[in-house]
Amino acid sequence: MAGNRNILEIRELVVQAGDKRIIDGLNLTIPCGEVHALLGPNGSGKTTLMMTIMGFSNYKIIGGRIVFKGRDITNLEINERARMGIAIARQRPPTIDGVRLRNIMAYQIDRGIGDAERIAAYVKKAGMEEFLDRSVNAGLSGGEIKRSELLQLLMMSPEFSMLDEPDSGVDSGALRDVRELINSLFTLDDNHPAKRKAGLIITHSGHIIDHMSLDKAHIMHRGRIGCSGHPNLMMDRISRFGYEGCDRCLGEVE
Ligand SMILES: Nc1ncnc2c1ncn2[C@@H]1O[C@H](COP(=O)(O)OP(=O)(O)O)[C@@H](O)[C@H]1O
Ligand SMILES: [Mg+2]
Repeated sequence: MAGNRNILEIRELVVQAGDKRIIDGLNLTIPCGEVHALLGPNGSGKTTLMMTIMGFSNYKIIGGRIVFKGRDITNLEINERARMGIAIARQRPPTIDGVRLRNIMAYQIDRGIGDAERIAAYVKKAGMEEFLDRSVNAGLSGGEIKRSELLQLLMMSPEFSMLDEPDSGVDSGALRDVRELINSLFTLDDNHPAKRKAGLIITHSGHIIDHMSLDKAHIMHRGRIGCSGHPNLMMDRISRFGYEGCDRCLGEVE
């Protein structure tokens, strides 16, 4: 739909996994061309939100709706959402036996998604040359897995990427490389020269968003967005008061 200002709009979302209600009345809007951070303590539902937006069927939407590029995708299958331009990098991605990074690379080039030269440059930038002929993610270290996941996203060049804890298991030296790959992913959008690609970066520690230029940060709290604001302001609050401060501030101490 032409003229959408927002790439993602989530209204009053309620999600259940197993017999537990994990997301409970969540609202979130990401305008086109913006990259937001999602912060929050462990267990607050960040991964659940990402998997729900992607469309994994074990997360049951029992209320609310998800609108992507102006279309209600609440009941769409995961592959249809992927086709619309949604992609994820998981915190602990599975090994894909028998599929090599080189296969994925060839597939994207065949489909005309990426040109060979650009993809080869990404492989080099990600330092993944020596891993092209291994099964995807097989035997990789924490930092290598993150680079491999980001490389796969770079090859796909999705319109909207969600990254789940791209800094977890990455030592401080390698953090800079991961940050650079993320910046490449959210680079200017070829189709909209004034904008960059949109996305959501999930991080518990906030390390990865330090020194990144993001548009907004949200703190997840008890299955909803507790508060939102400039990333520097949010990080400052968290470093001073911790996530426990959210309970006091939002007045929901049990
Ligand atoms: N498939 C599931 N079945 C039951 N409970 C789940 C499931 N997935 C997640 N949970 C629970 O939901 C809560 C939020 O988990 P998660 O979304 O992984 O949080 P976060 O990513 O913020 O750490 C946790 O208490 C977790 O144990
Ligand atoms: Mg998580």
